[in-house]
Amino acid sequence: MKIKLPSLIVIMFFLIVASLLQGILTDPRASAAWAAEKKPRAPDTHFIATPHDVVEIMIRLAEVKKTDVLYDLGSGDGRIVISASKKTGCRAYGFDLDAGLVELSKANARKERVESLATFEQKDFFDLVLSHVTVVTLYLFPELNVALIPKLEKMRPGSRVVTHDYGIEGIDPDVTAYIHRKDGRSYNIYLYTTPFRQSSLTVLQKWFGKDKKQQ
Ligand SMILES: C[S@@+](CC[C@H](N)C(=O)[O-])C[C@H]1O[C@@H](n2cnc3c(N)ncnc32)[C@H](O)[C@@H]1O
Repeated sequence: MKIKLPSLIVIMFFLIVASLLQGILTDPRASAAWAAEKKPRAPDTHFIATPHDVVEIMIRLAEVKKTDVLYDLGSGDGRIVISASKKTGCRAYGFDLDAGLVELSKANARKERVESLATFEQKDFFDLVLSHVTVVTLYLFPELNVALIPKLEKMRPGSRVVTHDYGIEGIDPDVTAYIHRKDGRSYNIYLYTTPFRQSSLTVLQKWFGKDKKQQ
């Protein structure tokens, strides 16, 4: 049987593709790398929603206005982003690693008719650039807030960071609000403005540390 040259090229192409695929499927390291590339990493913390009345106070405390660009880092069901854009007309963006929560947020934005202002993306907040952002909202564990300081510090002077429950260790807030509800629940909100002020305690610790080294 005589095989023509074009058919031979097609057969060789399929053989090469098949052997590459077999390599990926049988080599555990190659298949792990393939899976890692396809699958986003697990979130650093699970989803707990900020109550709606607390969201409202966060937005008011940060004095969010139409010209602001707001980012919620770890946006959950999208309530902060949706509420900010609905109340002030600002452009607001939510980022979360959980694909299901991102889809839920988009559906919630459509329900509230703010999909032109409220945008959601499945993205790791550690991969974001914040230099053009004027308001950041956070409801994360303390160590995550601290890990985000180098990014938050890149925001323009006068930008606001408002956090729920945990503050940013080492930075002095402009305002600390304690909300005590009639149902017995209480919430803390912290407001910071860039450039950040190092907390007096941190300054003292550094000062004493330096003093000790000189002795
Ligand atoms: C405590 S919830 C806060 C939700 C929302 N901001 C609120 O206050 O209602 C934290 C959210 O951060 C998300 N998350 C955790 N680590 C993340 C990361 N590295 N990048 C993006 N989202 C993350 C979680 O999936 C979760 O939805």
